[in-house]
Amino acid sequence: MYPLRRKAPLSPSDSSMKHHSGRKGGNLSVAAVVVSVVIFVAFIYGGDITSTAKFSFARSRSFPEIDNHRDSSPEALEKTPPALEEAGEEQLDAAVDDDSELDDVAGVPDSCDIFTGSWVFDEETRPLYREEKCGFLTEQVTCMRNGRLDDGYQKWRWQPQDCSLPRFKARVLLERLRGKRLMFVGDSLNRNQWESMICLVQSAAPPGRKSLSKEGSLSIFRIEDYNATVEFYWAPFLVESNSDDPRMHSVPDRIIMPESIAKHAQHWTGADYLIFNTYIWWMNKATMKVLRGSFDGGSTEVEEIERVAAYERVLRTWANWVDENVDPHRTSVFFMSMSPLHLKSLDWNNPEGIKCAKETTPVLNTTAQLNVGTDRRLFALAAAATGGARVPISFLNITTLSEYRKDAHTSVDTLRQGKLLTPEQKADPQVYADCIHWCLPGLPDTWNELLYALIIHRPPPADVKAPQLPPHVATDD
Ligand SMILES: *[C@@H]1O[C@H](CO)[C@@H](O)[C@H](O)[C@H]1NC(C)=O
Ligand SMILES: *[C@@H]1O[C@H](CO)[C@@H](O)[C@H](O)[C@H]1NC(C)=O
Ligand SMILES: *[C@@H]1O[C@H](CO)[C@@H](O)[C@H](O)[C@H]1NC(C)=O
Repeated sequence: MYPLRRKAPLSPSDSSMKHHSGRKGGNLSVAAVVVSVVIFVAFIYGGDITSTAKFSFARSRSFPEIDNHRDSSPEALEKTPPALEEAGEEQLDAAVDDDSELDDVAGVPDSCDIFTGSWVFDEETRPLYREEKCGFLTEQVTCMRNGRLDDGYQKWRWQPQDCSLPRFKARVLLERLRGKRLMFVGDSLNRNQWESMICLVQSAAPPGRKSLSKEGSLSIFRIEDYNATVEFYWAPFLVESNSDDPRMHSVPDRIIMPESIAKHAQHWTGADYLIFNTYIWWMNKATMKVLRGSFDGGSTEVEEIERVAAYERVLRTWANWVDENVDPHRTSVFFMSMSPLHLKSLDWNNPEGIKCAKETTPVLNTTAQLNVGTDRRLFALAAAATGGARVPISFLNITTLSEYRKDAHTSVDTLRQGKLLTPEQKADPQVYADCIHWCLPGLPDTWNELLYALIIHRPPPADVKAPQLPPHVATDD
């Protein structure tokens, strides 16, 4: 019924071969990730790899029961972002950006799994930018300005177990993005990451040579000297839904069209880097409503199906779109795994806690398995959907490393319905703490460091020439 082109890899050697043949040199942890995907999937599904290869396992296998108490209600927390404004003048950060950095683009070994490691407190190199220096941040994420007292959450560095991440260099990334478009597509967590990316690169552009604009579902940050853009496209389910209005999307009764993606996807086709996610909007109910007919056609008849079944259909639609529409020589595709919630402090053995509100350090004991209620069934589907196939998709396995970061959410130092929490609301974290989104600077910077590592590890597509220096580099500093 839903023809599937994308197949999960059949064996580790098979899949790494496929990936290697596609690209010269760069391959970072793709092979490692694929291997772990296979192992993970094999583990979950009792070694029945055949079913994953057909990408039909979600319908043929039983899944653990959904833990309903964990279901969040994003509409309570999801708010229309405040109007994006042209930011004030920021200073160029000379310390982070010197000319020599263009020569020094350290990769990480192909064998290194950059998603397995630990959090290290590092006041020397963190945060990567200062909250007050990035005028593009929305009030939703500026936790210190909103009243947070501890700033430790800004100072943790992700240390992979078997290698080190390359230092994030704005100019190196912008050189890659010269004349190009990098686009995040998804929900408010992806918007969180997009804001982080703006702050990470904006220091390399002089004041007045960068701007933010918003039109419909698309928000565009432009860096003029590089003719580059860092964009965000609102599509919380990737496919068409009744929650697609970028402003008025707090629809309690969510309805999707799992096979309809073209209306959104037409806006993605020109991008050179596409970074997708979809998760939080699935989590308010164990089921999802699927429309028969179309929104435009005025249909109202719906069918309610299991969350997992709906998620699988959506990812299938999405993966097919990628395979049929993306030119892998031009466009690199990434999928961010689930961004976790921290709603129950007993999950990390803190009986004194209130959701994530009192947390000031990450979970550091990683020997015990941590379970904060992430729907791992969706994780397995996403991991499988991104494996193999004509167009490689990099799966950024950020879920586990983010699950440790109970300290990094915006909690009560954020907005609700467009307004800062009142002192009375702040005093009631059980009701008002946002344990879904993340403060900036903070955890999404790490997601972007991982994305950066994957991007710079590859040779630029169809470009074997030495990088061209931006005009201002020679004269500026
Ligand atoms: C994701 O990373 C975690 C933590 O290192 C690891 O346990 C898991 O196997 C990885 N999953 C996939 C699909 O790569
Ligand atoms: C600027 O970048 C766009 C892609 O975003 C490209 O189509 C255009 O040709 C570029 N313009 C110049 C002058 O390089
Ligand atoms: C880490 O957690 C495990 C399992 O809960 C426990 O046995 C161990 O003692 C803990 N380690 C430390 C250093 O607290």
